[in-house]
Amino acid sequence: MKPDIDRYIQAAQPEYEAKLKEWVEIPTISAEPEHKPDIERGAAAAVQYLRSLGAEAEAVSTPGNPVVIGKFITGSNRPTVTIYNHLDVQPANEPQWKREPFVFFKEGNRYIGRGSTDDKGPALTALFGARYAVEQGTPVNIQFIWEFEEEIGSPNFEHFMKAKAGDLATDSVAVSDTIWIARGKPAVAYGLRGLAPVRLVLETGTKDVHSGVTGGAARNPITELCQLIAECYDVRKGQVRIPGFHDDVAKLSKAEMANFLASGFSVKQFKQAHELKKIREGDAADLAARLWARPTFEVHGIVGGYTGPGVKTAIPYRAEAKISMRLVPNQRADKVLKLVRNFIKEKNPDVQFLPESYLSPYLGPHTGRFADAARDAVRTAFGKQPAFVREGGSIGAVVTMEKYLKAPIVFLGLSLPEHGYHAPNENFDWEQASGGMKMFARYFETLSRLPL
Ligand code: BES
Ligand code: MN
Ligand code: MN
Repeated sequence: MKPDIDRYIQAAQPEYEAKLKEWVEIPTISAEPEHKPDIERGAAAAVQYLRSLGAEAEAVSTPGNPVVIGKFITGSNRPTVTIYNHLDVQPANEPQWKREPFVFFKEGNRYIGRGSTDDKGPALTALFGARYAVEQGTPVNIQFIWEFEEEIGSPNFEHFMKAKAGDLATDSVAVSDTIWIARGKPAVAYGLRGLAPVRLVLETGTKDVHSGVTGGAARNPITELCQLIAECYDVRKGQVRIPGFHDDVAKLSKAEMANFLASGFSVKQFKQAHELKKIREGDAADLAARLWARPTFEVHGIVGGYTGPGVKTAIPYRAEAKISMRLVPNQRADKVLKLVRNFIKEKNPDVQFLPESYLSPYLGPHTGRFADAARDAVRTAFGKQPAFVREGGSIGAVVTMEKYLKAPIVFLGLSLPEHGYHAPNENFDWEQASGGMKMFARYFETLSRLPL
């Protein structure tokens, strides 16, 4: 790698920060329909920036949000690498934000704002690494796929892929949307959990009723949902109790477990990074396996009844629980959903089971020439060997890209646990961005030399 890369990166810092500011300040919240114009604005800004750098770019419409494609085509008969990121973000209405979430704030070398780490900062980092490679004449073609619906489960990504896979032929894909173990402890992921969200609704009447008049006879939908949920899984241990639920869970190999342990995952650091006061019992090996390779059953919210001030003695007529299951290889969402539906029907036939669209789990190789190239790029840029681990989160586009592009997928993430994915005061930092540019530049250089 040429020594001038450090000068390039240093010189790029003001432009990187200006772009990240511009992008963070467009509130591309995919979950909130009123932000549709911001999504369109975000896609237009992305296209315009790609073009200003000399890339071909377009925003491809779908029945939902657009997907931006960018291409640095440097020559035929050269390998093509495709970089995936998403430029939509989570809502940001948590009360713990210290500043406006959509006003970029720079504090030393830390960049604060919604989307800074998930996933606009990493997207720009990969772009700057690519720009360097292109400027250096690295014999590689580099394409970008920037999605704007990742945070709502990629409902139209398959539609996009069906239309565009033919134009996006590639020799490999790099996804930059995952996290490290900790600062100084890089990780290259090779697996993702899937996600099966479900709403559970119970209605026992059409209006709230007086508990003095009806209590003892009326059924309470909130407590019935609570009981049902407690029947589904052991709330203290997290173990799902639904028969057959674990049948297809892929066994964690000894080699994988050894890698998990070698990652340096620490229970203490994990608690600190996420500000968790109390967690379930288990040592590092136990927790790593549970986070990355075991399924979960989770309740995200329960609504119903009276939550205002003072006393109100009503029995509610309706309650709803939002739940989801994280699924792992080789669980099949359709099969699991059927099991859960039947279990719930048996335990409480009056509960409506309303599944939303699901994401399948993903498992790729953690050895081979792409894993080697990733390891080399991380080591060259950050001076540390990455651990090969799986991720507990989900990225809907990955399984779809594998299906349509039929190319190996590599995860070159840059986020840290304390950057706070989806959390208030989400942030990214220059150490990860500058190292990341070097990592990508090196990765492109290596791939340019791999025989096709
Ligand atoms: N970048 C994350 C995926 C991720 C999470 C990777 C944790 C590594 C560790 C992605 O943006 C995300 O948040 N996905 C959502 C998808 C859901 C909202 C449909 C998820 O996993 O909950
Ligand atoms: Mn993300
Ligand atoms: Mn996310």
